[in-house]
Amino acid sequence: MLNEAVDPTLDDAREAGGEALRERIAAELLAARERTAGLTALEDHDLTAQHSPLMSPLVWDLAHIGNQEELWLLRNIGGRDPMHPEIDPLYDAFEHPRAERPKLPLLPPAEARAYAHEVRGRALDLLAATPLDGPSPLLRDGFAFGMIVQHEQQHDETMLITHQLRRGPVALTAPEPPDTRTGPLPSEVLVPAGPFTMGTDTEPWALDNERPAHRVELAAYHLDTTPVTNGAYQRFIADGGYDDPRWWTAAGWEHRQQAGLTAPLFWRREGGEWLRRRFGVTEPVPADEPVLHVSWYEADAYARWAGRRLPTEAEWEKAARFDPATGRSRRYPWGDQDPTAELANLGQRHLRPAPAGSYPAGQSPYGVRQLMGDVWEWTASDFRPYPGFRAWPYEEYSEVFFGPEYKVLRGGCFAAAPVASRGTFRNWDYPIRRQIFSGFRTARDAEQG
Ligand SMILES: [Fe+2]
Repeated sequence: MLNEAVDPTLDDAREAGGEALRERIAAELLAARERTAGLTALEDHDLTAQHSPLMSPLVWDLAHIGNQEELWLLRNIGGRDPMHPEIDPLYDAFEHPRAERPKLPLLPPAEARAYAHEVRGRALDLLAATPLDGPSPLLRDGFAFGMIVQHEQQHDETMLITHQLRRGPVALTAPEPPDTRTGPLPSEVLVPAGPFTMGTDTEPWALDNERPAHRVELAAYHLDTTPVTNGAYQRFIADGGYDDPRWWTAAGWEHRQQAGLTAPLFWRREGGEWLRRRFGVTEPVPADEPVLHVSWYEADAYARWAGRRLPTEAEWEKAARFDPATGRSRRYPWGDQDPTAELANLGQRHLRPAPAGSYPAGQSPYGVRQLMGDVWEWTASDFRPYPGFRAWPYEEYSEVFFGPEYKVLRGGCFAAAPVASRGTFRNWDYPIRRQIFSGFRTARDAEQG
């Protein structure tokens, strides 16, 4: 699967003026659609089947992508009439939970493809004819187009999760991530006390929950240099971590008991060896790779067992963005440059995380590795609005999810597109969730004085 970061960078494209920005948007739309096509290149029965009650049939995602593009670009911006008003309710994510979607009279695969294709053609015409520097905040820097690109890429990640849950012959392949590890690394780094700027006012395609930029004061802390590995996680299992309520929150222990958790999702033990299923292939669990498919409860229990804790969201972001040399928060751990294949494992270029300690070129000024890409990282934090938050362009984007029932994940993963991954980007999910590409790293308070 090819999904390279598109050049030039978004900032360069803005500075070069309207035409370069249009070209950038068109290239991002194309990259997203190529990825969608690759993920839906299956027989019709595979597209209409529900591979897990946790997920929609792939054909639902396909038409929903087209429907959101029609709503936001063609109708909201272009002022066009609905193409098929009767299908809108079918593809409203708030109207039908995933488990019910297979029973809906969904567009069959060929019609879903044709609909998404038709919408895209009209959206490209609209892009060519629409000024992107006018007063409308929805159009400024092409925001609405950027939102739609990110929406499609996020559904591509969701569809990749469906592929991971799917049974049957292997449908996806990708090259192995390169092993770019260098020398032994310290197990943790110290981030000294002090303020930093969290969130953004300037990132053109940042979503409402990433705004506004605000100053946060943090005490000194230590953060793991790399995400927690399968090998380390196996020691937690071998030490009876799943059977010791001391390491679990009350809610976590209750869930562990009720769901019968004994290991990460997709793992099983055979003849004294841990195996895992990954996109249809069963293989030994690689000890040096970041652990994947763990819930927040499991990540939190591991951290307590290790005598540590999950980092807060602010601690994660400071380690990923703050440059102590200039006092500035940057877009990414390595600086302001858009992600490339040398900097981070993003965009479904590979179908697994790279070994812990990879991507030296992408490390942060504090020497923290793999903050972007590889695995989403659970943080200790609930999903809350930043001070001064304003819902935009609609309340259902983030506001309806704020509260203690969701935990924040940071940093993207191998399945997240570069265009939907930023140092400020916030993902959120239930603490029981683990079919997502979730891992974690741990932290501890620095000693006083
Ligand atoms: Fe959606």
